[in-house]
Amino acid sequence: MANSKQQRVVLFSLLILFSVALTACAVASASDEEIEGSWESSAHADAESRSFTRWNDEDPPEIPANCAKCHSTHGYLDFLGADGSSPGQVDQPAPLGTTIECEACHNDVTKEKDSAVVPSGLKLTDLGKEASCIECHQGRASSLQLNEAIEGLPPDALHEDLSMPNIHNNPAGATFHGTLAKGGGEYPNQSYMEQFYHNFDTCISCHDAHTLQVRVENCSACHLGANTIEAVRDIRLSNVDYDGDGDTTEGISGEIETMAEKLLLTIRLYPLTAEGVEAIEFDGRFVDQAGENYATWTPRLLQAAYNYQYADKDPGSYSHNPRYIVQLLYDSISDLGGSTRGMTRP
Ligand code: HEC
Ligand code: HEC
Ligand code: HEC
Ligand code: HEC
Ligand code: HEC
Repeated sequence: MANSKQQRVVLFSLLILFSVALTACAVASASDEEIEGSWESSAHADAESRSFTRWNDEDPPEIPANCAKCHSTHGYLDFLGADGSSPGQVDQPAPLGTTIECEACHNDVTKEKDSAVVPSGLKLTDLGKEASCIECHQGRASSLQLNEAIEGLPPDALHEDLSMPNIHNNPAGATFHGTLAKGGGEYPNQSYMEQFYHNFDTCISCHDAHTLQVRVENCSACHLGANTIEAVRDIRLSNVDYDGDGDTTEGISGEIETMAEKLLLTIRLYPLTAEGVEAIEFDGRFVDQAGENYATWTPRLLQAAYNYQYADKDPGSYSHNPRYIVQLLYDSISDLGGSTRGMTRP
């Protein structure tokens, strides 16, 4: 049984604990306001964006189950099973009117979550707090869907019923994990970069989790002078001239840009060599000369075009996994019969 001195000590300790807890709450709620402001300034909170309004005029006005996971809080909670439904799938269309809100990322399921399955069927593990980022920023296609479309077909023969698997917007999470995710259209018999191992190797070490902005103030410690987003685009460590333009001082983003331009040129020249294949252009998607969705694919053309589109859809690829993207672009140029003279495959 406790004597009165012991009781006083216990009481006193409880009092201290209580005031510590109170102080902690006060600190937490002050920064909650800041966090709320940060989040409100972000694309995740932009209720006017097409990402959240695309379905407003549909009948019925709701977000279909196959879109809802990444385009609404309800859909993501449904996917996680945080609403009591079964995890790993979206069971029903989501109502309109949400963005990517606090509870999408902060709930009992995300607390424990540290893996994500990507469109290739591969499971990325040991992810930590960025597991949710990767669920939504993983794209919607991969080597798997591409191979399912073209496997076994003669590479240069026209197939009227081929269509391009749609990688969709911003597959940063797939790019970042390279061949562990297989978001790109990887060629057989080639090996590809795994994760871009970098001291800053989670989404939220480079992006603020709430504003989503690149935390450029963290880059210049190692990349001299890289303290604006423009200067970050000039970051370069490698002295290999990947794109073969003789310039090894431009940012690694410049190497990727030139390689992508060369791939697009190779894609546009390819129809001259393949029978029945119409002229091809790119304006955000691949089109024929009438501006209609491109329809005269050969398997070889489809894979190269998929990789071009992949690079186009991830504008941050130079920071997400520069050498993975360079490998895909290089292999596509080479496979289509373009010249890789002067270029180097990492
Ligand atoms: C795996 C997650 C995911 C799924 C599933 C998904 N999207 Fe998206 N979508 C995104 C992300 C991420 C963005 C925003 C990329 C950015 O702005 O950086 C986006 C952007 C968009 C945009 C705005 C940009 C634009 O192209 O106008 C529209 C519209 C859109 N998606 C439509 C759809 C539709 C329709 C579906 C279902 C058929 C769908 N999405 C399924 C992740 C997804
Ligand atoms: C897209 C996912 C996402 C959304 C939406 C989001 N958070 Fe967070 N939040 C995170 C992640 C990830 C961290 C961990 C950040 C870190 O460790 O750098 C975090 C951290 C926090 C923290 C801990 C303090 C800190 O800075 O580490 C608080 C509190 C918090 N969030 C509150 C909120 C509130 C309130 C909202 C809505 C206004 C919100 N979050 C929206 C992902 C999100
Ligand atoms: C539930 C799905 C979902 C989750 C989880 C999610 N995002 Fe997003 N993210 C989106 C959508 C949808 C958009 C596009 C919003 C818009 O168009 O306004 C977006 C936009 C972005 C953008 C801005 C792109 C641009 O065009 O400006 C960045 C950067 C981003 N997310 C990073 C992250 C990070 C980092 C995390 C994890 C902390 C994360 N996202 C978690 C769905 C998600
Ligand atoms: C090494 C730092 C780094 C890491 C790690 C990183 N990013 Fe990025 N991210 C960037 C940079 C730099 C940009 C491009 C900004 C620019 O040039 O405008 C970017 C761009 C983006 C964009 C497009 C924003 C836009 O304005 O269109 C999205 C979405 C995104 N990142 C999501 C993610 C996700 C999700 C992860 C984790 C899988 C991640 N990023 C990991 C640095 C990083
Ligand atoms: C602690 C040191 C450190 C910090 C901080 C750092 N980096 Fe890096 N970064 C490196 C190293 C080391 C490499 C080389 C990695 C390699 O080649 O595999 C690198 C490579 C890169 C590359 C590729 C350059 C090339 O030539 O291939 C980019 C882009 C990059 N970092 C962006 C960023 C961004 C954006 C930030 C800030 C958000 C950042 N880094 C912060 C150390 C750092």
